[in-house]
Amino acid sequence: MESEELMSSLPKEKGWMYSYLYKFQGFWYGAKHLQGAIKCQKQFQAQNSDVLLITSPKSGTTWLKAIIFTLVNRTRYPVEKNHPLLNKNPHDLVPFLEANLYDNQIQDQSSFRLFAAHVPYHSLPKTVHDSACKIIYLCRNPKDTFVSLWHFSNNLKPDKTGTNSLEDAFDLFCRGVSPCGPFWDHVLDYWKEFKENSERILFLRYEDMKEEPGVHLRRLAQFLGCPFLAVEEETGMVEEILKLCGFDNLSKLEINRTGKLANGVENKAFFRRGEVGDWKNLLPISMVKTIDQITEQKFSGVGLVL
Ligand code: A3P
Repeated sequence: MESEELMSSLPKEKGWMYSYLYKFQGFWYGAKHLQGAIKCQKQFQAQNSDVLLITSPKSGTTWLKAIIFTLVNRTRYPVEKNHPLLNKNPHDLVPFLEANLYDNQIQDQSSFRLFAAHVPYHSLPKTVHDSACKIIYLCRNPKDTFVSLWHFSNNLKPDKTGTNSLEDAFDLFCRGVSPCGPFWDHVLDYWKEFKENSERILFLRYEDMKEEPGVHLRRLAQFLGCPFLAVEEETGMVEEILKLCGFDNLSKLEINRTGKLANGVENKAFFRRGEVGDWKNLLPISMVKTIDQITEQKFSGVGLVL
């Protein structure tokens, strides 16, 4: 396979979950993810009406998928009826561009298409750059993202391969060697594009969504051209969507406690604590200082605080 030949020529480092991460176009990927990203670069035909939800892994992808799916389908699937989120994990409702194209799972939809991706900005397929499709980018504080990724990767590691020590994982993360890392460069590239073209890209922070979810849900609705009507506001639609998609609700559903994705990952792996500042329970002060210094240095002068 062409992409396998390419992979053998790429720099590689010890992976978090599986054997290696490979450096492609300046960012690190697991083998299967990379094959999907390459295939998607070659084959994905973006349409102007497409909407892409983009995140660095563990920044709140599952939550964003649930919210956007519910928002844009609120007429087709009213929140109070038998909603698809009650029987399906958000990852089964909004496909990942890389994973699903690679597995040939994407079905042709004739209307509005919603995809998610972790791909860095400059590695998005050319047809995405050439089209007018919209991008919603969600990022998260690097300390919480790191802690979430550390737990997740240890959870998913195949049996008998042990857990990643916090120190080893921290070293990899800070050197940029994490899935779709360097984390800071991933965020920065989307931030810069958002600053230049806010009609096309909406930039959100997990912490802001937690603090003022209603404000940001309304922003999302406006951005996607489906603002809440007066009657929807009056009947509490915003609150209903937030409740349905909230951590407390989703994490307790049977499907998310016992179900699995097609790739075998358990749905419950995507719901851990869902809080802001959980890093305080794990990271020693030395790690906090190191990561804060990197963040300060990387984001210096760009007007972004995480
Ligand atoms: P924690 O590990 O800090 O709890 P992703 O979806 O990108 O894989 O990110 C997973 C993180 O988002 C996990 O963070 C998870 O608990 C949190 N999360 C999942 N669903 C959420 C929700 N509905 N609201 C808020 N956070 C959520």
